[in-house]
Amino acid sequence: MSDALRGSRIFLGVCGGIAAYKAAALTSALVQRGAIVDVVMTAEAERFITPLTFSSLTARPVYASLWDAPERIPHIRLVREADVALVAPATANVIAKLAAGIADDLLTTALLAARIPRIVAPAMNDAMYDDPATRANLATLGTRGYELVDPERGFLAERELGVGRLAAEDRILDALARALERRSSLHGKRVVITGGPTREPFDPARFLSNASTGATAIALAREAALRGAGVTLLLGPTLLDSPAGVDVVRFSTAAELRDAALARAAGADLVIASAAVSDWRPAQRSDSKLHKSGKALAVELSPNPDVLAELGERKGSTFLVGFAAETDRHEERAREKLARKHLDAIAVNDVRDERGFGTGENSLVLLWGAQGRRELGTAAKDALAVRLLDAIGQLMESGSSACS
Ligand code: CTP
Repeated sequence: MSDALRGSRIFLGVCGGIAAYKAAALTSALVQRGAIVDVVMTAEAERFITPLTFSSLTARPVYASLWDAPERIPHIRLVREADVALVAPATANVIAKLAAGIADDLLTTALLAARIPRIVAPAMNDAMYDDPATRANLATLGTRGYELVDPERGFLAERELGVGRLAAEDRILDALARALERRSSLHGKRVVITGGPTREPFDPARFLSNASTGATAIALAREAALRGAGVTLLLGPTLLDSPAGVDVVRFSTAAELRDAALARAAGADLVIASAAVSDWRPAQRSDSKLHKSGKALAVELSPNPDVLAELGERKGSTFLVGFAAETDRHEERAREKLARKHLDAIAVNDVRDERGFGTGENSLVLLWGAQGRRELGTAAKDALAVRLLDAIGQLMESGSSACS
């Protein structure tokens, strides 16, 4: 295992289940690897194991209540100081509360306020784990950026075999180390991400647009913020919720995107342009609705600015990543855009039959330099955002780019 845990700050939430005793061994393993661990227990956890166990292992105070800490708002401080939050074991009850946003004790309040990677390791009876309510709650946590360390099959407290045992210590330590490694590449960096469609109106009721939803940009922004970056998301018209902890600037037309992007991208460490920008806009815009006359209507289109190309011209030391939406000769066309727009890397997206637009899944290949190429595979957009930022982080650290 890497050295990622050394010197790291870990917020460990312990819930009330029989596996709470395993949290003590986990705490000891973390401390031995050089981590600083702040343990927060639920009231139910205290029925299974005492705070003294954890405070002896961590040599730090253990928190159990919002009310008995020496300060007024320990939940905010604890998650601000931590690099990563882990709940192990997580009970069905606490998982349900996190999915619903209920904050009725120190642990759930702190996790709701956390803007750091959150890892949940469930442990419970197999029937509880299998119940559709628990499954739906875990799926909700997954879509909100929580990482889940699935429980294992084994001997349960009910003296029967089933899936519900807390994941083995190594798997939990691995998940923590991965979250910490990812965080290190973007921590403290300034990141600008563009996403969503543009709308180019030709009268007050109609516009030229495309099927982009901004889902990729939203997933990238959430993931970059979890890695400790200061993120600005320039987001076109979409019904999707923008992520927490991110500065969101809305645009509608390509011209608005251009102004926002040029102002915000200057001096940024990383810019990722995933917006599906219309290459044209109606040359004329009527102030009143155009009424049908039974005749054909010709709408003349003028070219829009190429926002990414303009960013490329003045990129300075910013690491600039574009997207290429292609229907044929994908990589050849993408490499041409990589060079022409002075990009450091480009993610190629297959948009035949509107694939990639508005769907939950996507397939990406990342290209850089003359020959650099990495397949990121086909996956949900959240998972692809993780892979894309991992790859970009590595390129930034190694200094690789089309322009180096
Ligand atoms: N882009 C942009 N401004 C435009 C068009 C595209 O900033 N007017 C950006 C997109 O955000 C994307 C990249 O350029 O990161 C490539 O977009 P794409 O639509 O694939 O290519 P185009 O440059 O529009 O070229 P073509 O129409 O020939 O495919």
